[in-house]
Amino acid sequence: MAAQISLLQDSLAQIAADIDHEFDALLTLPGDARDRLYAAMRHAAIGGGKRLRPLLVTATAALFHVDRAVALRVGTAVEAIHVYSLVHDDLPCMDDDDMRRGKPTVHRAFDDATAVLAGDSLHALAFEILASPKTHGDPFVRGELISTLALASGPEGMAGGQMMDIEAEKSVVDLQTVMRLQALKTGALIAASVEMGAILGHIPTEGRTHLRGYARDIGLAFQIADDIMDVEGDPELAGKALQKDAGANKGTFVSLMGLERAKQQAEMLVQQANEHLSTYGAEADLLRAIANYITERDR
Ligand code: IPE
Ligand code: IPE
Ligand code: MG
Ligand code: MG
Ligand code: MG
Repeated sequence: MAAQISLLQDSLAQIAADIDHEFDALLTLPGDARDRLYAAMRHAAIGGGKRLRPLLVTATAALFHVDRAVALRVGTAVEAIHVYSLVHDDLPCMDDDDMRRGKPTVHRAFDDATAVLAGDSLHALAFEILASPKTHGDPFVRGELISTLALASGPEGMAGGQMMDIEAEKSVVDLQTVMRLQALKTGALIAASVEMGAILGHIPTEGRTHLRGYARDIGLAFQIADDIMDVEGDPELAGKALQKDAGANKGTFVSLMGLERAKQQAEMLVQQANEHLSTYGAEADLLRAIANYITERDR
């Protein structure tokens, strides 16, 4: 267990440094009227965040001995989508939040229009990275990466889940609806991260079943943990405002099941996620540590 914790801590620190470095290299200020846009993108993308999705890409890719530099580029692409989703999620027309990752949100540090454009540009950047031969030499692999991330980001994934999330504030929703909402809003990008690691490993679809089961379970556990944190987390540690869901009348696992059962459900999902890894040996220890971290985290 102690070994697992230090493996996780080291991996989180390493991925944070690596992703900062990737974004820094990608987002050089052009020295013209677009500087403000690049500065807003840098504000959103550099310095902060757990970098969980890139870590999932690199940890999964490492199972199959994929070159880390390649996995990092792909991880940066997923993180770019995630960061864009946060910038837009925080806008006054959505959650209207002032703090993100311990800093003012992009629309607070800049303005609404700049935040919309920074989100748009991070979205485009993700696909620019995946389409580049610098990321992968095989155009078939690039195509599969692009379609996986596109599906997970759009109406069948994150954006669709965000729409359901907004709709869920207007009516009483049941558990099944909340599960579907969360699977799209948060689960889709987490699942895509694992999937892209497997794509880089040239694992055929039929060989991805266990990893998909793992990803589905941690994705759901992750959003349940976020909802629990909203109720009883420390905003200082979380780096964002908490206690917002109840006020917004949001249907979440916590509002539907209560705190205790939501915690049990998240733990059960983490256990189930680990069971999906039982065919792997020590090479999957980082994926196991990530699953355990999902419910233990304080940020
Ligand atoms: C927050 O995501 C939004 C959700 C999808 C719940 P994270 O908890 O991964 O946020 P960062 O990337 O660490 O800031
Ligand atoms: C946002 O969910 C998830 C996405 C950005 C897709 P939340 O609105 O619950 O995330 P936080 O709590 O603001 O990080
Ligand atoms: Mg939201
Ligand atoms: Mg929000
Ligand atoms: Mg939340």
